[in-house]
Amino acid sequence: MYSEKVMKHFLSPQNAYRMLDADAEGSLGDPSCGDSLTMFIKVRDNYIEKISYLAFGCCALIAVSSMTTVLAMGEHLNDALRITEEDVIRALDGLSPMKQHCSNLGVGALRKAINNYYEAKRQTEILIKEVSR
Ligand code: FES
Repeated sequence: MYSEKVMKHFLSPQNAYRMLDADAEGSLGDPSCGDSLTMFIKVRDNYIEKISYLAFGCCALIAVSSMTTVLAMGEHLNDALRITEEDVIRALDGLSPMKQHCSNLGVGALRKAINNYYEAKRQTEILIKEVSR
């Protein structure tokens, strides 16, 4: 059924909270099951200083979200963008074929949060350039 690691992250999820001072967030839902996930990141010098999530969904989604934050914590944004669904599944010692799609939400929400961070930074830089003309 579920590996010991999946059960550990389901029963004692890491970084499961709404980050009030996040620099960016990314949300994703799976219309096939109705589950959803929001990832929050706090960034310093392009490294993920803090990461957290709020998830509404199955046991595998909670474990995937928790493990995704563990893998991404402290990483450079570009390295965090390279984390794959397979990395998360491997770190959890596997997921049954029926539950593998749950890993898409973890990685997808993380990538969205990072992309939203880059987009906000780009917009700020454009504004600063316009103001200083
Ligand atoms: Fe929906 Fe797991 S069944 S994310």
